Amino acid sequence: MTNNEIPQVSLSDSTSIPQLGYGVWQVPDDEAQGAVEHALSVGYRMIDTAQAYENEAGVGRALRASGLSRDEVYVTTKLANPDQGYDSTMRAYDESLARLGLETVDLYLIHWPLPSQDNYSATWKALVALQEEGRVRSIGVSNFHEAHLDRIIDETGQAPVINQVEMHPYLQQAGLRAINADRGIVTQSYSPLGSGKGLLEDADLTALAETKGVTTAQLVLAWHLALGVVTIPKSVTPARIEENLGAAGVELTEEELATIAALDRGVRFGGDPDKG
Ligand SMILES: NC(=O)c1ccc[n+]([C@@H]2O[C@H](COP(=O)([O-])OP(=O)(O)OC[C@H]3O[C@@H](n4cnc5c(N)ncnc54)[C@H](OP(=O)(O)O)[C@@H]3O)[C@@H](O)[C@H]2O)c1
Repeated sequence: MTNNEIPQVSLSDSTSIPQLGYGVWQVPDDEAQGAVEHALSVGYRMIDTAQAYENEAGVGRALRASGLSRDEVYVTTKLANPDQGYDSTMRAYDESLARLGLETVDLYLIHWPLPSQDNYSATWKALVALQEEGRVRSIGVSNFHEAHLDRIIDETGQAPVINQVEMHPYLQQAGLRAINADRGIVTQSYSPLGSGKGLLEDADLTALAETKGVTTAQLVLAWHLALGVVTIPKSVTPARIEENLGAAGVELTEEELATIAALDRGVRFGGDPDKG
């Protein structure tokens, strides 16, 4: 599998993003360089980090060591919760760029809406300004629900290009995917493999994967790709990093998609965006 076989998904600002990328949450900075270098060497061309992951520097080292040119790798980072607000976002973005060793990122996201702090709208205005200044290519959000999306769109006239949300076969997010799509927002699925919390041991998934002759992780990632979302599995295990990329070659039938659709049970492995 090479990057040529990973589809590109068009975004509303006329850019595009590889549909399958590599996430680095919970990868310590001193391990991030090796992990990201391996991911890039086997064909990933989209990396998802965040200020809060404290590994932007390691990601930056990997980008430089990879020998790939800047425009060959799509880089996402996210604004950390304590830095929400207009001026602090401007400062935090500069600090993220410095740690990454980049002049710009391809996608900058507000990590969480934190409705109780009521600061996400001012934060979005800062992202809009950064884009108007040509300092970031695309801007988006993460963990936003309908009310959060509509508020920032109403106040700026500008919709995020992406909403990155928890999604996997136990939390399929059909409602939120439709809300995103209605607003021209691409859904990006995080914790696509269930974040190491037992999803990949599900009996129906493992049986279906065995029948198809693929791994359970490949089956689940192929389901994300078939639904048209952009996805970012994480692994620090070299063989799994390669295995996950192989999902791009797995086709699912309508019947197989229906079997996975039936597993939805509203189980959230991460935080609830309406809280906090
Ligand atoms: N925006 C947000 O709020 C948010 C929240 C959570 C995550 N994210 C993003 O989404 C990315 C992915 O989510 P995630 O890290 O929560 O979880 P995930 O990608 O769903 O799952 C990662 C876990 O699955 C294991 N794994 C990976 N590939 C496997 C395979 N082929 N076979 C068996 N096990 C496998 C990994 O183990 P090993 O690493 O030990 O191999 C790790 O324990 C994050 O890294 C981050 O970039 C964003």
